[in-house]
Amino acid sequence: MSEPRQILVTSALPYANGSIHLGHMLEYIQTDMWVRFQKLRGHQCIYVCADDAHGSAIMLRAEKEGITPEQLIANVQAEHSADFADFLVDFDNFHSTHSEENRELSSLIYTRLREAGHIANRSVTQYYDPEKGMFLADRFIKGTCPKCAAEDQYGDNCEKCGATYAPTELKDPKSAISGATPVLRDSQHFFFKLPDFQAMLEQWTRSGTLQDAVANKLAEWLDAGLQEWDISRDAPYFGFEIPGEPGKYFYVWLDAPIGYMASFKNLCARRPELDFDGFWNEGSSAELYHFIGKDIVNFHALFWPAMLEGAGYRKPTAVNVHGYLTVNGAKMSKSRGTFIKARTYLDHLQPEYLRYYYAAKLGRGVDDLDLNLDDFVQKVNSDLIGKVVNIASRCAGFIHKGNAGVMVAGDAAPALTEAFLSAAPSIAEAYEARDFGRAMREIMALADRANAWIADKAPWSLAKQEGKQDEVQAICAQGINLFRQLVIFLKPVLPALAADAEAFLNVAPLTWNDHLSRLENHTLNPFKALMSRIEPAKIEAMVAASKEDLLAAEAKAPTGNGELGKDPLAAEIEFDTFAAVDLRVALIVKAQAVAGADKLLQLTLDIGDEQRNVFSGIKSAYPDPSQLEGRLTMMVANLKPRKMRFGVSEGMVMAAGPGGEEIYLLSPDSGAKPGQRIK
Ligand code: 2FM
Ligand code: ZN
Repeated sequence: MSEPRQILVTSALPYANGSIHLGHMLEYIQTDMWVRFQKLRGHQCIYVCADDAHGSAIMLRAEKEGITPEQLIANVQAEHSADFADFLVDFDNFHSTHSEENRELSSLIYTRLREAGHIANRSVTQYYDPEKGMFLADRFIKGTCPKCAAEDQYGDNCEKCGATYAPTELKDPKSAISGATPVLRDSQHFFFKLPDFQAMLEQWTRSGTLQDAVANKLAEWLDAGLQEWDISRDAPYFGFEIPGEPGKYFYVWLDAPIGYMASFKNLCARRPELDFDGFWNEGSSAELYHFIGKDIVNFHALFWPAMLEGAGYRKPTAVNVHGYLTVNGAKMSKSRGTFIKARTYLDHLQPEYLRYYYAAKLGRGVDDLDLNLDDFVQKVNSDLIGKVVNIASRCAGFIHKGNAGVMVAGDAAPALTEAFLSAAPSIAEAYEARDFGRAMREIMALADRANAWIADKAPWSLAKQEGKQDEVQAICAQGINLFRQLVIFLKPVLPALAADAEAFLNVAPLTWNDHLSRLENHTLNPFKALMSRIEPAKIEAMVAASKEDLLAAEAKAPTGNGELGKDPLAAEIEFDTFAAVDLRVALIVKAQAVAGADKLLQLTLDIGDEQRNVFSGIKSAYPDPSQLEGRLTMMVANLKPRKMRFGVSEGMVMAAGPGGEEIYLLSPDSGAKPGQRIK
């Protein structure tokens, strides 16, 4: 094989204010498989990531939860890290953009850009919320669409008619944060002079750094002419203050990609063999790859290379763009239960099922990938269990029973051995090109051939015949050798299965080149089932739990938690709307867990003249539901009944708190009676 390469790889930094879902996982799994392939081949490949921790959304979310942004991002980082680890995504470092390394690098890059004349400043007029005391980003302004008069539309586009406009064109604008009518105000802003890099970008985007479809899209923007990019935001803002400009902060998208460098720098401090400058200085021979989704191409293929060039750093070797995830042919949907969080998946299914399915469906292009749940079950069961694991489970027993676990020497199927060896370069090429789908097809074609050969030889029949023991051992040793090669080829996708297989094979961690050798006169460890089939009931349970996540989020919604995504920030309502809510004192007569639901409690509530059945997502705070029995609380009694998997929910109880164990059911003062209306 060629000289070891030095490769630095990143995935997009997830925002530090939400959970990771299966759409995110498509990118992290894709990147992880590519990185594991490079490591398996013996290259120095480093995979870094971080939480994207800055911006007004995170600042406001922390405020709503009554915690500091630092606390919020620490909580989220712990959650994200656990999700990634459990999906076997093996970062060399998972850092945060709210770090000292990032502050220093962002200041340095900005200062270099300013000194080189690439920063402009001028006054900008923008909507300002006089009550909240802050400038409003477009998504924090709501009003009536200037084109179709639809109400309650965001400041930059109308969801009803699709029109795009400036927030100043919106009729009857309101701050989505406080509900106040915003006023226009001037403020100094700082701009990155992107047009200075037009010629460089025209060349760079066409130099093999991007997939053709992406380069073509960028050509449209480049042909239209580049605009200066506003990189500053006014206080209050959660981010880094711009050096020498008190009260002005770097816009989150300025320091986010610098977070890639910062995460690597943080790693260098722990790994002395890594040289930061060697990877990042202009002229570096190390390779740099960013894996991203198609929605953030402009940041990575225009602004980012221009920033790097302007500050004297190297540019990415390539930006690898993927499409979106759909589930069962449609956008992920909370109400259909197909908006599946990473943790909800992991509560029900093994990570490697999804890793394999994504690998089987990923190509090099930017097409969307559909996770069809029926196909998922069928494909994983048929390929991984029916084809790959099957080879080992068919052969291992005979070697243990008939030859004390020792694999005999000799090649019982030279043509098959040759087929496996000669397929390896093509499989490696497919991995290198990120054509995981092709790699999986080639590997499964080999598995089919191995299975057909074993079926044809039928060692189970020979084993019953006199004098055929040597033949049985030769067939089964060959089967295990073929299985071992398949495990090597699949190791980037299925690292846990590979580790279990290595334990069974009684070998050191396998590398790519190990496929060139075979095991002979080698003792195996006892065989244990390496993977179990996906039971369709698990899928149903995961979908049901995802619907439950929605309910749990709804239960938390009164606390201002933005999980539902609609509009996390409460706008003012009319008195009549408030008066229409039938709030009652309720006595909890019975409280019990719900079979098959992780987050729900079933409450029987007495509201004077009748009893109500209510499902509430508060189980995490009340693991012993009986403690709630006999207690008074408050409920919304005229909420439209809602049919759930477990029954009909006839109202909603009121609770406060950020979630998890911190959910507090509200109670009236003593003396209140069940059924009394709350006024
Ligand atoms: O779109 C997003 O989710 C961003 N948080 C990605 C940032 S990638 C990088 F530039 F930091
Ligand atoms: Zn409209």
